[in-house]
Amino acid sequence: MNNLNWVDLIRDIPDFPEPGVVFKDITPLIGSPGGFSAVITDLVQQSPKAIDVVVGMEARGFIFGAPVALALGTGFVPVRKPGKLPGEVITTSYELEYGTNSLSVHRDAIGKGSRVLIVDDVLATGGTIAATANLIKELGADLVAVAVVLELDFLGGRKNLSEQGIDEVIALTHVDGD
Ligand code: PRP
Ligand code: MG
Repeated sequence: MNNLNWVDLIRDIPDFPEPGVVFKDITPLIGSPGGFSAVITDLVQQSPKAIDVVVGMEARGFIFGAPVALALGTGFVPVRKPGKLPGEVITTSYELEYGTNSLSVHRDAIGKGSRVLIVDDVLATGGTIAATANLIKELGADLVAVAVVLELDFLGGRKNLSEQGIDEVIALTHVDGD
């Protein structure tokens, strides 16, 4: 971690979005010029450099993924919630606690064999990352690593990802209690 202790800029919001949940709010972090710069620097330092494209998921993955792509000198590919991308897309669905969610990417956004880095804010259950990995695989690209700012260890996302063959998971900081 670099000099500024940006972790302290992630704020706990109790009982959001529902009672009993402590929401990790990144808005003070990204609202701080020094904090935002520091967290991006750390993401870039800890990520593999031999990649061709950064993929970020709507919405918070855009905030962290795009500056990482700039720093690594790659393009950025958005993975979006349904109905947002105008071109031909591929879509995958994944289970939530209640119901399902879907994510889409443009079919021509990532070339076969491209080396991909996924960037998102939080690894919780791993559902969002696993779904994104499925899209990358369907396009014939190579998922090199996943980088997140924060991992909620108690939700078991790392294990869930490992069971799907996703083992290169970089998390800058962890929450281990619930
Ligand atoms: C949040 C967060 C991660 C995801 C992690 O996204 O930004 O993308 O949940 O949870 P998981 O590991 O259980 O999938 P969400 O879609 O809720 O909100 P956002 O649009 O603000 O990114
Ligand atoms: Mg998200």
